[in-house]
Amino acid sequence: MLVSWPSLVQEVENCRKCRLCEGRTLPVPGEGNLHARLMFIGEGPGRDEDLTGRPFVGRAGQLLDKMIAAMGLSREEVYITNVVKCRPPQNRAPEADEAAACMPYLRAQVGLIRPQIIVLLGASALGAVLGHEHRITKERGLWVERKGVAFMPTFHPAALLRDESKKRLVWEDLKKVRDRLLASGGPS
Ligand code: URA
Repeated sequence: MLVSWPSLVQEVENCRKCRLCEGRTLPVPGEGNLHARLMFIGEGPGRDEDLTGRPFVGRAGQLLDKMIAAMGLSREEVYITNVVKCRPPQNRAPEADEAAACMPYLRAQVGLIRPQIIVLLGASALGAVLGHEHRITKERGLWVERKGVAFMPTFHPAALLRDESKKRLVWEDLKKVRDRLLASGGPS
C-alpha cells in the first residue's frame, strides 16, 4: 500500500505496469480535495486528459462539472479520478489486466482520502471497483455499502452525451448523493 501523496503521484508518473504507458502523453492521477467526502471514479483518460494530465476536462468532463455544480458543489470540493491513469488507445474501455495493474493506485487514493461516498461513473468503474457481476443498467441509482463507504453507480457522462434521455436518471442518482452528503455534514 502506497502511503503518501508524493510517492503515489511519483509512482503513477513513472508507471510501466501495463501497456497503456506506451501510448500516453501524460499520466492522469486524479485531482481535487484530498479530504473530500465525495469521490468520482470514471473509466480512463481521453485525448484532452492525456494532453493535460487532468481528469475529466474534455466534453464529458464539462458535463461532469455541470452535474457537480447542479449538486451545489464545485470540482475543487470533490476528488475526481479514473480506473486507469493512462489513456487507452482510441478511447477503448480498459482491459481487465490494465484495470488490475492500476488498481493499487485507486486503492491508495481511496485509503488516503477516505471518502464517505464514491460515485462510480459507468460500467468500467462499477465492474473494476465492485466486481464484474454488477450491471450498470440494473444497479445504477442503488447504494452499495462496502467497508464503510457508500457507492453510487450511475451512467458515465459520455453516455449522456450519446443519449440525452439518461440525464434525468443520472440526476435522480446524484440527488441521492447530494442528500446523503448534506445529511452527513457536507463535502469536506
Ligand atoms: N472519461 C473518463 O472516464 N475519464 C476522464 O478523465 C475523461 C473522460
